[in-house]
Amino acid sequence: MTTVNLAIFGIGNVGSILIDQVQDIKQRLLDEQGLDLRIPVITNSALAYFTDDTNKNWQTDFKKSSVNYDILDVIKYFKSQQLKNAIAVDVTASKTLVDNYELLIEKGFHIISANKIANTLSQDYYNRLRRALKEKGKRYLYETNVGAGLPIVETVKNLYQSGENVTKIRGVFSGSLSYIFNTFSEAEKPFNDILNTALLDGLTEPDPRDDLSGKDVARKLLILARELGIKHELNEIKVASLVPEELGGETTLEQFKERSYELNSIFENKKKSQSPDTVLRYIGELDDLNKTLEVRLTSVPKSSPLGQLKGTDNLFEIYSESYDKQPLVIQGAGAGKSVTARGVLSDIIKLAQSLK
Ligand SMILES: NC(=O)c1ccc[n+]([C@@H]2O[C@H](COP(=O)([O-])OP(=O)(O)OC[C@H]3O[C@@H](n4cnc5c(N)ncnc54)[C@H](OP(=O)(O)O)[C@@H]3O)[C@@H](O)[C@H]2O)c1
Repeated sequence: MTTVNLAIFGIGNVGSILIDQVQDIKQRLLDEQGLDLRIPVITNSALAYFTDDTNKNWQTDFKKSSVNYDILDVIKYFKSQQLKNAIAVDVTASKTLVDNYELLIEKGFHIISANKIANTLSQDYYNRLRRALKEKGKRYLYETNVGAGLPIVETVKNLYQSGENVTKIRGVFSGSLSYIFNTFSEAEKPFNDILNTALLDGLTEPDPRDDLSGKDVARKLLILARELGIKHELNEIKVASLVPEELGGETTLEQFKERSYELNSIFENKKKSQSPDTVLRYIGELDDLNKTLEVRLTSVPKSSPLGQLKGTDNLFEIYSESYDKQPLVIQGAGAGKSVTARGVLSDIIKLAQSLK
């Protein structure tokens, strides 16, 4: 039997479900794979709960018994309890925690992360982190950084590592923008009506301009590019933001919401000016031949896989030597707390199996 000890940082949407999912499959993992997955530490930004293993009542235990902490307390606890096979699981969106990755690796932790920050800082940091992992013989898995639970990072990495020449990756990388343009292309509705529905349904960030700016798509594109050994910085990606200048910058969220009708004519004109049988999609595109990374709104044939996209699905087309005319296509829910937690858990099990 192999015991694996998780320190779970972040108990928000994804972290909470992840802890529940671990409880649900605990016995099966033990019976079928001889893996004892334990969670001796769970934290939010200020408080940590230390135990020998969490159980199904972890929320109550956390409320009752959590204490103020810093990262050194977690490290010391693992050391004092002699907890082997330590994995730090980052289900936060915190830069502070990322700043501690190198320390965690130094102190013997593997890292699993849903947090995109570490992979989108400078190329220097990216290389340094990988050097630290190599030196310490530790692993870092982050499948959910792109496409939530979809197996996109692993697929791109496998193609690259097996010597396949990936020439292009193109797709819809954002669930909220997928929903907005899939709906806008089908329905005769003003753009801001669709945007408001997406906001009310929790599909966009609280400030929808965070989605419309294209920055999140750019981050995901950079993560995939770096898997292919392409050295690039976030600010070198060409991003066509969907937020007009007059609605960005100084404009408050309230003002943006009030004036969001100003977006209607912009997108209606784009819709009308494209050729028939095409639809608008907001895509990320990596072109290895031309060495470009680009995020932009484009028209695609209605009959193409991208043109057929529905709901909030993500879709990734990967072109390579072997997938030359017809791309390898990965499609499905690219966001959502349950699928993301499942993706993190899948990384945890993969790593745990390698520790046996
Ligand atoms: N939701 C999705 O569909 C999805 C999909 C793919 C990837 N992701 C990524 O998954 C991560 C988590 O998303 P979420 O929706 O679960 O976020 P969330 O609901 O906002 O939860 C974030 C959690 O992280 C905690 N936290 C913040 N800073 C921390 C720190 N320095 N140390 C320890 N804990 C800290 C927060 O604690 P406080 O309450 O104390 O602030 C909170 O418990 C994000 O990076 C997100 O981009 C999410």
